[in-house]
Amino acid sequence: MRQLVINGGKRLEGTVHISGAKNAAVAIIPAVILSDGVCRIENIPNIMDVNYIANIMHEMGARVNRINKSTLEIDPSYIRRPVADYDIVRRMRASCYLLGALLGKFSQAEVALPGGCDFGVRPIDQHLKGFGILGAAHSVVGGMINVKAEHLTGGHVYLDVVSVGATVNIMLAAVKAEGRTIIENAAKEPHIVDLANFLNSMGADVRGAGTDVIKINGVKHLNGTTYSIIPDQIEAGTYMVAAAATGGDVMIRNVITKHLDPITLKLREMGIQVEEFDDAVRVSRAGELKRCNVKTHPHPGFPTDMQPQIAALLSIAEGTSIVTEAVWDNRFRYVEELKRMGAVISVDGKVAVIEGVKELNGAPVKATDLRAGAAMVIAALSAKGVTHIEDIEYIERGYEDIVEKLSALGADIRIIYTDDGVAQRA
Ligand code: EPU
Repeated sequence: MRQLVINGGKRLEGTVHISGAKNAAVAIIPAVILSDGVCRIENIPNIMDVNYIANIMHEMGARVNRINKSTLEIDPSYIRRPVADYDIVRRMRASCYLLGALLGKFSQAEVALPGGCDFGVRPIDQHLKGFGILGAAHSVVGGMINVKAEHLTGGHVYLDVVSVGATVNIMLAAVKAEGRTIIENAAKEPHIVDLANFLNSMGADVRGAGTDVIKINGVKHLNGTTYSIIPDQIEAGTYMVAAAATGGDVMIRNVITKHLDPITLKLREMGIQVEEFDDAVRVSRAGELKRCNVKTHPHPGFPTDMQPQIAALLSIAEGTSIVTEAVWDNRFRYVEELKRMGAVISVDGKVAVIEGVKELNGAPVKATDLRAGAAMVIAALSAKGVTHIEDIEYIERGYEDIVEKLSALGADIRIIYTDDGVAQRA
């Protein structure tokens, strides 16, 4: 077993470069299936989730070439069967994008029910409703979802909940369907816009991405393309919060500052300085952290994927803060871990009440999911003493080179190998 060991209390200082966006990459890589040519995708983050989806594509028959650490070249023309079975997809939520991509390409798909982080129930009813409106029937047999259409035709879809996954999947199924598809109450996340730009660079006709109405005119062919993925909003936000938690001064480069607005504004409310440049933000803190309330919302609201990290920061702010999770049913599992470090938090349903403490103390904790793991790292960086974080695979699913990036900023962080949970010297 491996653990992250962080000796806290070191001020983060210097410059960090943000990698490509995970949630854009895991949508764009399956979207390549729709192409009739070879796609070269740049600025891909080198993380486990991307490796999983690239492996799934490879096992399905696509030729996947890693040109360098951040560039993949994918030729989907060797994919013959629209099937991704359980062994291939079980670890990853985003494998459900194979449904939309395979359906769009072959008018049918068979994909094992997806896994991913556990925040309570993760239904895909809105994805299936969208496919149905485009003319595809679905069934679940032996843990596999089958979707099949005689002929995919555009349709008018209203999403009952704003869903990133459903918006992506319906876009993928619709780009080659005959006629016009309209998605109303669509998700507006930066990665939705990135996927639309990628599809359009292949010759698709997708308009309105980034607003809540997306219009797609089906096209017959999609060509190969070269495309560069946007920077990761959540990775950037995580380093912004880490800088603030340690009273540091960090320049965060390769970001789209507009995407960071909901995070920037909350940090300013807490008394943190955030200076914006063309493609960078500088985050610094001199004084005490002020309390504030945070409620998550779909974009452009405060991102749910930053909720655990901001809660870690609020746990060392002066006064009482309230954090409301309005996207997921159960995204406070990490709170028990933060409490081991001395945080004072009570959770009632979707609301966490945080009584700020002067400082946290190092402790043995777990990453209960990806962003929960990021919250543990932030708490540990600010804490007095040493924290051991278990289950770091979750963190590696979404953060490229986190140990190297934080070390370069002055953190005392390393990975150790343990035997049955007992720490050994690395
Ligand atoms: N929902 C439904 N029916 C559906 C789909 C979703 O009721 O058919 C509900 C969900 O239960 C949830 C809400 O709608 O309450 C939002 O879910 P959404 O579909 O937007 O989430 P997702 O597509 O499964 C993506 C990100 C998550 C991020 C959410 C919300 C990817 C691969 N994952 O998940 O990212 O939390 O959007 O922004 O894009 C992460 O990166 O750590 C992560 C978990």
